[in-house]
Amino acid sequence: MTRAAQEFITPLTLQALSGGTVQTELFSAEQEAQAMGHIALARWADILLIAPATAHVIAKLSHGLADDLLSTLYLVAECPVYIAPAMNQAMWHKTITQENIQRLQENGVKIIGPEAGEQACGDVGLGRMSEPESICAQIFSKADPCLAGKHILITAGPTREAIDPVRYISNRSSGKMGYALANAALLAGAKQVTLISGPVNLSAALGIQVHAVESAAQMYTKVMEFVAQCDIFIAAAAVADYTPQMTEASKIKKLHAETLLTLQKTQDILAAVANLPNRPFTVGFAAETDDLERYALEKLHKKKLDLIAANWVGQAQGGFDRDENALHVYWQTGSQSFAMMPKTELAQHLIKLIAEKFNDATAPQKYPT
Ligand code: CTP
Repeated sequence: MTRAAQEFITPLTLQALSGGTVQTELFSAEQEAQAMGHIALARWADILLIAPATAHVIAKLSHGLADDLLSTLYLVAECPVYIAPAMNQAMWHKTITQENIQRLQENGVKIIGPEAGEQACGDVGLGRMSEPESICAQIFSKADPCLAGKHILITAGPTREAIDPVRYISNRSSGKMGYALANAALLAGAKQVTLISGPVNLSAALGIQVHAVESAAQMYTKVMEFVAQCDIFIAAAAVADYTPQMTEASKIKKLHAETLLTLQKTQDILAAVANLPNRPFTVGFAAETDDLERYALEKLHKKKLDLIAANWVGQAQGGFDRDENALHVYWQTGSQSFAMMPKTELAQHLIKLIAEKFNDATAPQKYPT
């Protein structure tokens, strides 16, 4: 929110209504401490939408001024930028405003609206901000709606397997890939995106239905609750393969020089989904330190998957707890590799490929005439 926006509505109101965090300051000690400074914020976004954009903001952006959070974000952002102008009709028609708009368009900014009608000041004419529904429709119709109408179920993050009330076994998964896939599925027009998430430090985009779980067993139960309604299942979670055979009710005391923890296998959620009679299109992940192709193909066949996305882990090879990754994707009749890139971008490529293979698999068979 700019300072002018805060004259109309308080950050607290927007925060309460959106359930999201409202950012107002260019240099906020709190945000910087969370590594979410203005640069990180601009890099994090898939789309930057400025709505409403006043004549003043438009003038500032068109001249490259960066004296507050919003104008700085615009200068840093490399994602698509949309502007929904809102101002008095006379201000909109002023040559200087039109020149500023043209300049922004020449710099790749897409302008949505304004629309004609009665204005807050009583004037009638062009300058009303487009309705929010119309703004969203215009933005999302520009994305490739390859998952239009589909329900996508995704698992993300690590699981925690309790040893006693204070200790657990887990792994280094950050959940970034699963969350990026959920966002990409939403952008690709999915009707519903359900995310079953282990404990992570991420927030999902508005419109994604998130169910938080902790253990592999809880993740299994939640997936089974939603799987019948979904068209595509993507297992991006790093589910623990083993869990303690017993969870102690009280904190274990250090009474002995050594102790032994007996682990038992967790239920393989991905394999269970792939074995359902009316299974969805099923996508798995594989993280390998060696022999990536052989292990990935083995998992594809053994778990009867439609597609598997494999990546190298360990050393400097990407994978867990990083913002970038590279993937090698395999299916029954082919494969495709994606070079190292931000997970947000990678997720969009992967969703596109999944949609393509899903559509091939569900397309009615063509018989020779
Ligand atoms: N997976 C799952 N449920 C489990 C274990 C894994 O759904 N209990 C899913 C993961 O979400 C991922 C894929 O299975 O999509 C990973 O396959 P897996 O065989 O578990 O890989 P690794 O754990 O790396 O197995 P291994 O140690 O045998 O290589």
